[in-house]
Amino acid sequence: MREIIYVSKNAVTTGNFKDLMQAGRMDIVCHAVIMTLFTSNKLRDNVKLHLFFYGRPDPPKHLELMPRIDEKFQISKKDIAGLIKRMLYKYKKERKKEVFPGCHVEKLSLVKFINSLKNRGVYVLDKNGDDIRNAEIQENPIFILGDHEGIPKEDLKIIKKTAKKVSLGKTTYFSSQAITILNNELDRREL
Ligand SMILES: C[S@@+](CC[C@H](N)C(=O)[O-])C[C@H]1O[C@@H](n2cnc3c(N)ncnc32)[C@H](O)[C@@H]1O
Repeated sequence: MREIIYVSKNAVTTGNFKDLMQAGRMDIVCHAVIMTLFTSNKLRDNVKLHLFFYGRPDPPKHLELMPRIDEKFQISKKDIAGLIKRMLYKYKKERKKEVFPGCHVEKLSLVKFINSLKNRGVYVLDKNGDDIRNAEIQENPIFILGDHEGIPKEDLKIIKKTAKKVSLGKTTYFSSQAITILNNELDRREL
C-alpha cells in the first residue's frame, strides 16, 4: 500500500468554513483528495491519504483518509469538501477519532508523524530531486508533497534529513497533477 501526505500551511483547522478558497485553499485540498483516492469509476483501495493542516484556529490537524465503503457510508467526488468539514467538526481533544469508516482526525504535526515511522521508505516530491523513473522505491512507500506554496520550510528542513527527494520532471505541477503522475508511476510498478 502507498501513502500520500499533503501538507498545507494555511488550510483551516475548523469545519466552520463556507468559501473553499478563503479557507486556506481548501479547493486545492479537494482536488488532491479526489486525485489521490479516485480513479474513473472507483475508489482506490491501495492508497492512504494524510492531510496535515496548519491554518487557523487550532493547528496542527492530521486527517487520515482511507475510506471504506459500507452500506451507511458512501463517498463521492461531490462530497469531499463536506467530508473534510465534518472531520474537522468532529475532532476530539487528545484522541484519534474515527469520523467515518477509515477516516480519522487528530491533533498531530507532520514532523511527529514522520518521526513515528519505522523502516519505511519516505520520499519528498521535489522538482530538483532524483528522477522518479530511475529511483528505487521501497514497498509501501510514503510520499510528501505541498500545496500551492510548497511544503512549509521548517518541516522540510527536518523531513529532508531522512526522506529522499524524487522529481516528476522539470515542470512545476499543481499538487493534484503531481499526485496523478505519482499514482500512475506507482500503478505501473504495482506498488
Ligand atoms: C504547485 S507545487 C508547489 C509550488 C511551490 N511554489 C513550490 O515552490 O514548492 C505543489 C507540490 O507539488 C509537488 N510538485 C510539483 N511539481 C513537481 C515536480 N515536477 N516534481 C516533484 N514534485 C512536484 C511538490 O511537492 C510541490 O510542493
